[in-house]
Amino acid sequence: SVLEMEVEQINKGRYEHYMQKEIHEQPESLTTTMRGRLIQGGSCKATTVLLGGLKDHMKTIRRSRRIVFVGCGTSYNAALAARPILEELSGVPVTMEIASDLLDRQGPIYREDTAVFVSQSGETADTLLALEYALDNGALCVGITNTVGSAIARKTHCGVHINAGAEIGVASTKAYTSQIVVMAMLALAVGGDTISNQARREAIVDGLYDLPSKVREVLKLDNEMKDLAKQLIAEQSLLVFGRGYNYATALEGALKVKEVSLMHSEGMLAGEMKHGPLALVDENLPIIVIATHDACFSKQQSVIQQLHARRGRLIVVCSKGDAASVCSGGSCRVIEVPQVEDCLQPVVNIVPLQLLAYHLTVLRGHNVDQPRNLAKSVTTQ
Ligand code: G6P
Repeated sequence: SVLEMEVEQINKGRYEHYMQKEIHEQPESLTTTMRGRLIQGGSCKATTVLLGGLKDHMKTIRRSRRIVFVGCGTSYNAALAARPILEELSGVPVTMEIASDLLDRQGPIYREDTAVFVSQSGETADTLLALEYALDNGALCVGITNTVGSAIARKTHCGVHINAGAEIGVASTKAYTSQIVVMAMLALAVGGDTISNQARREAIVDGLYDLPSKVREVLKLDNEMKDLAKQLIAEQSLLVFGRGYNYATALEGALKVKEVSLMHSEGMLAGEMKHGPLALVDENLPIIVIATHDACFSKQQSVIQQLHARRGRLIVVCSKGDAASVCSGGSCRVIEVPQVEDCLQPVVNIVPLQLLAYHLTVLRGHNVDQPRNLAKSVTTQ
């Protein structure tokens, strides 16, 4: 109806599509996610992380034998992005479960486990069933959702709302970055203050404060990503290689591309390249390599060299100033992004890939906000 169309136009403001609006509002949604949760001051001026919904359970979480992340789709990928920092700061083993797979296997969940259910909608059937299964097995169940009053928010013992604001586009964008930020704050909260990790904690807190402005900066790549989308418009397939903190970026970037632009795309662990994916490399297949500056950088540089040696068609996402060192010899397009604290880099790195997926979809003439066959929230098994 005309009224519905007008309401839509009001909600989307100056944007063509909800996905576009939600990508561009990430500086604001991230700010809202952090609001009131980073508390500065006290005698030593250290910042403490306040996650009100967890404070009565923090001791149990710290003492748990294992932390298990459970989710589907983008929510799973966000947990994967946060896993390394949670392991580092908490010292507790962190394992990953796709909700349906945990149910298929009836995998072991124990009373001594903390199970963290990550879901934008809070209503995904598999995640909800996995929650009921974990409750039956006596685990402490924590929810990380974007929807107050959702089934997962209600049935977990405790939790954190990501406060990203309503997400309408079927492809999750701003919820992903807010989920990562909440789980980074969770890592700081579970980790607690020790002398040995003080500098690291401060660097992460500073990085969190700076993140909205870094995301605003990386959004300026919009035109560059549109131009790249034009080059890739007729491709059959696109690979994305990442590792470490950015293994999740590879999976999530590829998921964005396939779900909205309907182009085949796979995210791969760069460390597995020689165990199969390398056979696909030729001068035609476009390959995105995430190679921003962190402890894995030199390993990614050697991956790039090996891809060059096979005349791979590379698109490299690297830190500002690294363009020359990542792209010497061979066909290579560089996307330079601002560098942030390593564990927060996935929040910055996903943005150009979200923009690429968006522009590819529009150029290919597909429905951005409601891709065929997909639903925003999958409430049936
Ligand atoms: C659907 C949506 C995805 C989402 C996934 C998990 O597949 O299209 O965008 O990541 O469900 O949804 P949840 O609400 O549990 O995060």
